[in-house]
Amino acid sequence: MDSDELQFAIAFEERRTAATKEKVRIVIKEQYREAFDILEDCEAAGLIPGIIGPPGVGKTLILRAYAEKSGRLFSWLTGDEGVRPSHLIGSFNPALVLKKGFSLESFDPGPLLKAMVFGGVFGLNEGNRLPEYVQNSLLEPFEELSVNVQRLGRIKAHEGFFPVITMNPEEMAGAHRLSEALRDRIRVWIRLGYPRKETEIEIVKVNAPEYNLSDTALETIYGLVSATRNSTDIEIPASIRAGISIARLAAQMAKRKNLKEIDATVISEAATYVLTGALRFRPGIEPEPAVNQLVRRVIGSRGSSK
Ligand SMILES: Nc1ncnc2c1ncn2[C@@H]1O[C@H](COP(=O)(O)OP(=O)(O)OP(=O)(O)O)[C@@H](O)[C@H]1O
Ligand SMILES: [Mg+2]
Repeated sequence: MDSDELQFAIAFEERRTAATKEKVRIVIKEQYREAFDILEDCEAAGLIPGIIGPPGVGKTLILRAYAEKSGRLFSWLTGDEGVRPSHLIGSFNPALVLKKGFSLESFDPGPLLKAMVFGGVFGLNEGNRLPEYVQNSLLEPFEELSVNVQRLGRIKAHEGFFPVITMNPEEMAGAHRLSEALRDRIRVWIRLGYPRKETEIEIVKVNAPEYNLSDTALETIYGLVSATRNSTDIEIPASIRAGISIARLAAQMAKRKNLKEIDATVISEAATYVLTGALRFRPGIEPEPAVNQLVRRVIGSRGSSK
């Protein structure tokens, strides 16, 4: 190793430790409590669940928390047309194969195989976007809890292996469905929606612990976010993520400007930055004026900064 490689190796190891020490910050109540309990029931009953909900409602987070609670590995993959079975299971590293042949040492395991070997929770996001033959390659792991690894042999999954699919409701209705065969393996569907106002505000706080957000500021931010969910001009409204981002950006802007409080003006400004890219409007609607109008309507003209 030369000194650059050594420095990278040291820094990489530090980052790896940081990842294992990171604790999930999650508000577990209401729908999240229920989802958590049903996940436990499904696992105990040997059933594979799917979690359906719009983007950013906490589907991935709840799986991460579920894995963490039982001290298990959490691995995941997001489906799209380009995903191959080797992305799920793993593949041989050609350079190592030249030196060591087709042995385990030359094999880079994929997220599904890791979860099967270590007994982890495997989250498959948007499984319906996978090409059909890739979806079919999941039937054996999901149904028989075994998988054949090319040239290395068939393995039986560790008993802690727990696969879960997550999906958008929009995709569920769309043309890109889950293949019939795979859908037949998903026996239980857990729905997550936008949480109640008080709960969403609590979630925003949990995700901005270093800032002192007043109740007024949190109410204003929630008002903005929920307005996007009630607008007929908006196809994809603001997620919980967008609310967290507005809160964090507004708080940071207020700090930089030495403001005594996170006021309506600074929230409007932060919201404009965040919402312009966070929403999908119906065709024919110009995002920027629509965002400005929405912010003005919710916060009032005193908040319009531009
Ligand atoms: N119950 C909760 N407690 C704390 N934070 C939450 C909770 N639910 C959601 N969040 C926060 O909201 C954000 C989005 O959550 P997550 O990534 O799990 O959503 P998702 O449903 O998987 O989204 P996508 O469909 O885009 O994959 C994250 O920052 C997460 O920390
Ligand atoms: Mg996710």
